[in-house]
Amino acid sequence: MKKLYFGSNLKMYKTIRETTEYLISLASLTGDISREEIELFIIPSYTSLERASAAIDHNLIKLGAQNMCWEEQGQFTGEISPLMLQEAGLDLVMIGHSERRHVFRETDEEENRKVKCALEHGFTALLCIGETAEDKKYGAGPEVLRMQLKKGFYEVDPSHIGKIWVAYEPVWSIGVSGTPASADYAEKMHKEIKQCLLELFPEQGAGIPVLYGGSVNPGNAEELIVQPSIDGLFVGRAAWQADKFNTLIRSAMKAAGR
Ligand code: 13P
Repeated sequence: MKKLYFGSNLKMYKTIRETTEYLISLASLTGDISREEIELFIIPSYTSLERASAAIDHNLIKLGAQNMCWEEQGQFTGEISPLMLQEAGLDLVMIGHSERRHVFRETDEEENRKVKCALEHGFTALLCIGETAEDKKYGAGPEVLRMQLKKGFYEVDPSHIGKIWVAYEPVWSIGVSGTPASADYAEKMHKEIKQCLLELFPEQGAGIPVLYGGSVNPGNAEELIVQPSIDGLFVGRAAWQADKFNTLIRSAMKAAGR
């Protein structure tokens, strides 16, 4: 049976104390669920990382950063280096979140440099991709996703494949003004993504987990997780209270026959 992935990006929410309390509570609430069955990860703000990393058992919850510079050091005011993230004992780095691409104008070329740098420094690289509402209107979603994957994983050494995760987060589905993708639509796009990953990495591409994100909530988590090409749920708002996230994870697992 495939492993199910559940994670949350805390965006620019929660203080250091709130993050630590949230993580301790989530670890305790979900502690009885076998980590052979699920992978649980949380991506808090930079300032919370060091304290959070020391406070939790990384076998229960993997910890990630929301972004990272592609250089180890240098004249990059406001950026965070992979060496600094290694010091915090992190497991993964998220790259190319929709808000990084669309609010902060990051490009596919930059995401590619970050992906390669994260992998070279031993992190799991979680590459986020997704089409805009305009791309969707013109029926260009699959082409946009393919472009983001081809550029994002350009010249990535296949030996790193075990440490690559992909999150499909359609831009129009994210956040307070987002509309969740239907399970059918999400499954269709996940199939495209998986096909493209196989073309990019013929030997190992099938093993890359692809998670759905964008207005996941207790009302749609079950129908999303049962789709054959959806390996996990990447949740924002609906995961930011530990008890609610625990309930969502359990109902999704139940729907998936666990
Ligand atoms: P929401 O679930 O709040 O739409 O956010 C999803 C997201 O951006 C996860 O990275």
